[in-house]
Amino acid sequence: MKSKLLVILLGFVILSACTSPPKVMEYNKGISIVPKPNSLQVNKGQFQLNAKTVFVIEQEELRNVIAFFQSKMKTSTGFDLAVKKEAESAITVRLNRELKTGEEGYTLKASTKGVLVEGKSFKGVFYGLQTLLQLFPAEIESTELVEDINWSIPAVEINDEPRFKWRGMHLDVCRHFVPVENIKKHLDMMAMFKMNTFHWHLTEDQGWRIEIKKYPLLAEIGSKRKEGEGHEYGGFYTHEQVKDIVAYAADRMIDVVPEIELPGHALAALTAYPEYSCTGGPFKVRKIWGVEADVYCAGKEETFKFLEDIIEEVVELFPSPYFHIGGDECPKSRWEECPLCQKRMEKEGLADEHELQSYFVKRIEKILVSHGKKMIGWDEILEGGLAESAAVMSWRGEKGGIEAATHGHDVVMTPGNWCYLDHYQGNNEVEPVAIGGYTTLEESYSYEPVPEKLDSKMAKHVLGTQGNVWSEYMYTQELIEYRVYPRIIALAEVNWTQKGLKNYEDFLKRMDNQFVRMDLHDVNYHIPQPEGPFNQVVFVDSVNIEFSTTRPVKMIYTLDGTEPNAKSKVYNEPFVFTDNANIQIACILNTGKMGKIRKIELKKQNYVLGKKVATSNQGLKEKYAEGNFIRVADIEKVTNWENRQPEKEVKSKKKKGRSSAYLQPSASVYTGYIEIFDDGVYEFNTNIDQFYLDGKLLVNNDGEVKRFSRNNASVALGKGKHEVKLIYLNNIIGGWPQSWNGPVIKMRRAGEKKFKKLTKANYAY
Ligand code: ACM
Ligand code: ZN
Repeated sequence: MKSKLLVILLGFVILSACTSPPKVMEYNKGISIVPKPNSLQVNKGQFQLNAKTVFVIEQEELRNVIAFFQSKMKTSTGFDLAVKKEAESAITVRLNRELKTGEEGYTLKASTKGVLVEGKSFKGVFYGLQTLLQLFPAEIESTELVEDINWSIPAVEINDEPRFKWRGMHLDVCRHFVPVENIKKHLDMMAMFKMNTFHWHLTEDQGWRIEIKKYPLLAEIGSKRKEGEGHEYGGFYTHEQVKDIVAYAADRMIDVVPEIELPGHALAALTAYPEYSCTGGPFKVRKIWGVEADVYCAGKEETFKFLEDIIEEVVELFPSPYFHIGGDECPKSRWEECPLCQKRMEKEGLADEHELQSYFVKRIEKILVSHGKKMIGWDEILEGGLAESAAVMSWRGEKGGIEAATHGHDVVMTPGNWCYLDHYQGNNEVEPVAIGGYTTLEESYSYEPVPEKLDSKMAKHVLGTQGNVWSEYMYTQELIEYRVYPRIIALAEVNWTQKGLKNYEDFLKRMDNQFVRMDLHDVNYHIPQPEGPFNQVVFVDSVNIEFSTTRPVKMIYTLDGTEPNAKSKVYNEPFVFTDNANIQIACILNTGKMGKIRKIELKKQNYVLGKKVATSNQGLKEKYAEGNFIRVADIEKVTNWENRQPEKEVKSKKKKGRSSAYLQPSASVYTGYIEIFDDGVYEFNTNIDQFYLDGKLLVNNDGEVKRFSRNNASVALGKGKHEVKLIYLNNIIGGWPQSWNGPVIKMRRAGEKKFKKLTKANYAY
């Protein structure tokens, strides 16, 4: 009986699978090409891909370009699209030099009968075929066979070409290393969104990441640093790996521009070869973020020979016409004190160290020109006079770019406000720690690479824009992806699509389909988090809790302690609570993918009564011990605490400078009272390790990177004195020295906008 039922049921399932057409997912409806093509007309009908479809290529050389798409389409559709000279149902691909587009332009015509993709160049053909992929259901990007899907595309006519030549992504692999496989993943994404320049930042104060055979210590010594936590960190690319990446990029029409930083950001190189510094060293590869004072010596001829040898090896590996020499953030303090640098200035008639920087860069330019390369550098290369053939990457706003373009130099516009993908893209209270800044997806999308000040002739020098990915606070590959995507895709559209056709809402709509494609590549793109309250909120009578997001996304929530899912209630309006509650809330994309769940604990409290203790001193008592304590538990073993009088001010020690010298690892425990003058709910913000109030742990940052704490908390305090304890470990976690914060606590009354720093006058003991 049972088996009979099973047979009937199975029969029903098979029958219904055969008869009903495959369901079209919402994100596959309509056309979602990103970047948006410059002209698109939708016609009647559709082109159906099937097992008999073939590629017809008009020029034999197109075989290589086609191979990329054959392989991808075979994987997801299972159709092995043969290449033929002619056929009935075909995707015809043609190189057509007569096409009325720019060099990278293409046209695509799809009808019920077939598809014709024409490119002005191989690049054009490649982009035309990328557009073709984007016309298919998103599942075309699947890395496994997808069944039960209709592989058809709408009949369309597309004429398309990029607005800008330089559609870039920069990646700093020095602060954190990116393995070859992950770089390839980024290159896949770049290709999907028609980007063509990978700017590979290979050398830094914190690590040298490319093998140089003539100077083996660069990789052997320069690629490794000892982290503040005590372990070794390293990684570099061999010549073979570099060639592999360059070839992989070339298959995707991407140029790889190497960056070898000079004259600053060179401590890793100088650790390996201190003889090319002003002081002679010895050095250690920098373990904290920020800029090192020791740079290449501009007075020694040997420095230039060293760099010439390196350049000679590097240019062999990179066919790209451009070579990036860095040039940014070069402190001049060593040059000011170095007799050889001073002698050079005198001999060359240089007025100051800025002109010495210009002299340095111009000598490097000559070397690059002799290798047939075009030099590009950060906008500081304008200092003291720009080298004749140099192109400029404008990062400190747009000023450098405007100046360079005005004088006829090519520029790539990458100002921080729009293009720095290491910036926060949401509130720092909920986002993983970042370097600072605030650049939402919408802001990146809104960037206009041609500054208004440039007339049309000067504007021609704007090559395009790129997203810059500085990896200090990108501790994992997932975090890099989280910061890069989808902001880089917004910049891809800025670079490709004519200004007048851009529309943010429309972009967001088209992104639903792209998110599915990225899911199929396992890309950890950013999904906004509900923002507003801290994770711990205290109230006395009732509390209003309101959430917002950085872009329009649905929020779903529960109040019963379970995790929200697609069926959970949708957040539409602020909550009002009069009792304890637990909110779990997350954003959910139209594709059904959910972001990180936030858990918010709401506690109804009575005012904790203040004490009436007698105190005779302002400030806090401090006990102090030297040693590298990473976690709070590590101080349990301290037996020799030294008692200290309160500092003049419990405040940031930033002013003492950000040199490595100020990094004596230690622990301090501060105790005393804080005086509260009015009953109220108070919110506390601090980056110290732990903050106790009235004997209870209120803010706990133990073990975290101690910037922009994610652990703010509130408490209901009655008038009077309240006991405080601050545990402050002067250590380095994740490259950030706690000493750059100082033992600072900030406080505000609930409802106030600004936190105020507590000073000695707020404390007593
Ligand atoms: C830079 O961000 N220092 C170019
Ligand atoms: Zn010097």
